Amino acid sequence: MSIKSNLTASRLLQFKGQINNENQLISQALRTILPPAGNGILLDVGAGLGDIAASAFADREATLIDILDFPDAETALHTRQKIDFFNLPKPDRQIDVMLMSHVIQYLDDDVGRLVDHIQSMSPEAIILVSNKPTKLHFRIIDWLARHDIAHNAEQFFPECPLPGYRLDRRVDLTSRIRCSNRDELARQLSSMIYDIELDPNELRAFSDWLGKQVDGASVALPQTVSLLCKEAPNA
Ligand SMILES: C[S@@+](CC[C@H](N)C(=O)[O-])C[C@H]1O[C@@H](n2cnc3c(N)ncnc32)[C@H](O)[C@@H]1O
Repeated sequence: MSIKSNLTASRLLQFKGQINNENQLISQALRTILPPAGNGILLDVGAGLGDIAASAFADREATLIDILDFPDAETALHTRQKIDFFNLPKPDRQIDVMLMSHVIQYLDDDVGRLVDHIQSMSPEAIILVSNKPTKLHFRIIDWLARHDIAHNAEQFFPECPLPGYRLDRRVDLTSRIRCSNRDELARQLSSMIYDIELDPNELRAFSDWLGKQVDGASVALPQTVSLLCKEAPNA
């Protein structure tokens, strides 16, 4: 596992429940992009709270896995497993869809290993939800580099180098992070989006700099939901 920040279930609940309205938007996008259910299961990798699963595919059999401890799924067709994705053996059932929503950055320290593990499960389709780069994103990356602070932001690679899969559809959405003040915005952005824990001095400097980049304590977060489908043999 390679979570760099102090990500916990309760911090995720705060971010997704109060700070960022993305999970409702992701669920809506998934409802439009999900291929029809087959005979297999949907595997939600790094499912987090399970709220996306409950609202986007309560009617499908799904396995929700996460490395952190979350309460059992409340949806009758969903089961939960606390496990590191890399230790997950290929399920007995065919995987119709492997969903990876804002989880790639925790898994891609070794992209070759990640691609091998995804391919060993041979899902029929893969859905990736990831943030799209913005001017502010590149300025933040630059600020972090100038301060010698390593980050672990999600990389935007919609045509993820997954041999045997092709991009079928993409849906764009924009969520909004809203905080009560700029220091809180700096804390939430650095830990939840860039996966770093800044020390108090770094956090103050980041917050001061952020104040010159954004109005108030809110930023837009454009994202993309990409459906990759398995290519037909000899395609
Ligand atoms: C930013 S959260 C996203 C949660 C959810 N997919 C969503 O979009 O609301 C990332 C999740 O990935 C989980 N995660 C990180 N590394 C993991 C690993 N190696 N195996 C399984 N889950 C992992 C984290 O515990 C966390 O719940």
